[in-house]
Amino acid sequence: MLPVAVWVALLGCLQAQELQGHVSIILLGATGDLAKKYLWQGLFQLYLDEAGKGHHFSFHGAALTAPEQGQGVLAKVLESLSCPKDVAPDRCAELKGQFQRLSQYRQLKTPEDYLALSKDIEALVQREGLREAGRIFYFSVPPFAYADIARSINSSCRPGPDAWLRVVLEKPFGHDYLSAQQLAEELGSFFQEEEMYRVDHYLGKQAVAQILPFRDQNRKALDGLWNRHHVERVEVVLKETLDAEGRTSFYEEYGVIRDVLQNHLTEILTLVAMELPRDASSSTAVLQHKLQAFRALRGLRRGSAVLGQYQAYSEQVRRELHKPDGFQSLTPTFAGILVHVDNLRWEGVPFILMSGKALDERVGYVRVLFKNRAFCAQSEKQWVGDRSRCLPQQIVFYIGHGELGSPAVLVSRTLFRPTLPAGSWKELEARPGLQLFGHPLSDFYAYGPVREQDAYSTLISHIFRGRKDSFITTENLLASWVFWTPLLEGLAHEAPRLYPGGAENGHLLDFEFRGSELAFCLQQPEQLVPGPGSAPPRPSDFQVLQATYRDSPLVSAWPEELIAKLADDIEAAAAKAVQRFGQFHLALSGGSSPVALFQQLAAGHYGFPWAHTHLWLVDERCVPPWDPESNFQGLQTHLLRHVWVPHYNVHPMPVHLRQRLCAEEDRGAQAYAEEISALVTNGSFDLVLLGMGTDGHTASLFPQSPTGLDGEQLVVLTESPVKPHHRMSLSLPLINRARKVAVLVMGKLKRDITLLVSRVGRQPKKWPISGVLPDSGQLVWYMDYEAFLG
Ligand code: BG6
Repeated sequence: MLPVAVWVALLGCLQAQELQGHVSIILLGATGDLAKKYLWQGLFQLYLDEAGKGHHFSFHGAALTAPEQGQGVLAKVLESLSCPKDVAPDRCAELKGQFQRLSQYRQLKTPEDYLALSKDIEALVQREGLREAGRIFYFSVPPFAYADIARSINSSCRPGPDAWLRVVLEKPFGHDYLSAQQLAEELGSFFQEEEMYRVDHYLGKQAVAQILPFRDQNRKALDGLWNRHHVERVEVVLKETLDAEGRTSFYEEYGVIRDVLQNHLTEILTLVAMELPRDASSSTAVLQHKLQAFRALRGLRRGSAVLGQYQAYSEQVRRELHKPDGFQSLTPTFAGILVHVDNLRWEGVPFILMSGKALDERVGYVRVLFKNRAFCAQSEKQWVGDRSRCLPQQIVFYIGHGELGSPAVLVSRTLFRPTLPAGSWKELEARPGLQLFGHPLSDFYAYGPVREQDAYSTLISHIFRGRKDSFITTENLLASWVFWTPLLEGLAHEAPRLYPGGAENGHLLDFEFRGSELAFCLQQPEQLVPGPGSAPPRPSDFQVLQATYRDSPLVSAWPEELIAKLADDIEAAAAKAVQRFGQFHLALSGGSSPVALFQQLAAGHYGFPWAHTHLWLVDERCVPPWDPESNFQGLQTHLLRHVWVPHYNVHPMPVHLRQRLCAEEDRGAQAYAEEISALVTNGSFDLVLLGMGTDGHTASLFPQSPTGLDGEQLVVLTESPVKPHHRMSLSLPLINRARKVAVLVMGKLKRDITLLVSRVGRQPKKWPISGVLPDSGQLVWYMDYEAFLG
């Protein structure tokens, strides 16, 4: 007889089993490629892992295919499933048999089909005397089919109130910010956020899934190291040897950035960059910290990217998409991107993302390379044996393939011996002769998973356990598109560099930083340049144009050249003023046009005499200084954070006094005028940077509001026709006292006003910009081609 304690334990076990309940998994697109290759195997693995723990399952393979045909395909797929190596063949056959009996094909087309499925599940649950725990719908179908399926599930196939619903979605999740938002809104009208599991299969790759646990378990060693003081750079790389042949209808629309960088590589980047929550096992905390990391990514510029396209690509597109003979695609199949994370931890650390098709090898990794401050006195031959401090110090999450051929976590022996979860990761055996990143494997503490597992199997298990941190929330998805969309739009007409593919690429795709920009190391060889007329002209194909506008000098160029020229001119003016007077008084406008200028000044002007520069504002919106609309905030983000201007030389406009905004009685405008009079000789700025609005306004002097156009006042409160309505501005007479005024006008929206203002006389009441004419200083117009020529 069994002792009482054992009976009690068994009873407890049985009760626990019953409590687990029944889970139905409905795989939509059950006969498609992804399902055949990964998803059925992942579901089988789930069954192997969980069925013994008291869960009851039914698996429903669904598609539009007619029942007999679908059943046939499914039977073949189920027959091909495999068990882990440690399961004996007989046992494997038995388990497969059980799984096959639980798996059925059904055609799901109409809402009625979904209703019938729901009724069948309810009947099954009742017949077996079970409790329904939940339903998982895995959408392995193209996104255009999402809405109809979602509607049918929501209206006819939700489980009862005590059971959960989980819907699993596969990328692409939109094409840019707007389309992603539309899709998210549509799905949001059918499902709650907690019901949606958006898959990024890279989050299921073992080395990637290990990043946060590794950071968590090695906090002590990493606390002092994981920051800008110690990290030299981070590389997130996915190289592929295959090309896009056979997939060009998808690829032509997406290209490498949307296909791989916006999702897989960005997700990995955030896992490295995010602040580690105190409780790294809390999904909510992880997702929240990840979102903060997204929001800290500095906006990308055109110069942040280098693009390539393998030479055979256009021909493949012509063939597969029936394009005319001369068709040249501009879709990049290779991209290198330089990302910066604007926070205290990562300030100044380059994060390099790189991916491409038709490259020389297939490999994926994240490599955190540390700065090396040691100088070694002994000869280089001694370094290896001695574990010298002069060897590179790095931590690599090796995703797979490449020389190693399997996932791994590598830590330079000169750093520290890491802790990894003992049950699931083990130290790799020595592999003499194997070199990784130019060093023998023995230079690293190297660990690999005890049991290799496919990403989808891991993710299916996480869906089953409701681990949301392995998936993409709507907020994270949109934050990623906010980051990528402007670059994608900016690059839409850029011709990528052509490369031959494979080992022949040689050094053609090597790239390097130049200031805060990326550029290919080698010049494009002649024979790879597409023929004339096949690609849109590049800015560098044009010269900077010098002319006059309103009888003053005009500089006109493509935006990048224009900004570079203006930045050079400002630096020259600064150097001259500092040489003559010991200081340089620069008054800057806010808004979007000067952002690129601020970035340019911050990035490449090492000789700029910032320590002797006083920064003033031309105008300000009556909002608190932390408001994103604040001009000072823009100046702070894009310039002040990056240069060393003494705090006492920075002069924000006092729009926020005594917790009020631009109250007359606080006399902010007068205070600013007094500050100018006290510090700027004769109130004569060395340089004032202005813009021109589409209504002819400049600074915050608007056609509708007569204030500040003449009279004695140096600084005035004004009204803007657009929000925020209240403004503070330098007056026209003060602006005209400047030694030099630069007016920056960019974009085709400005074309009409540019044309109009070129023809009118001095009528500041109608067009305040027309009143800008320095009393004794110089006025120079800086216009890009779109603003000047349309
Ligand atoms: C997919 C992309 O998301 O990821 C493919 O659409 C790419 O273009 C693939 O090849 C890479 O994934 P893996 O698992 O093969 O490294």
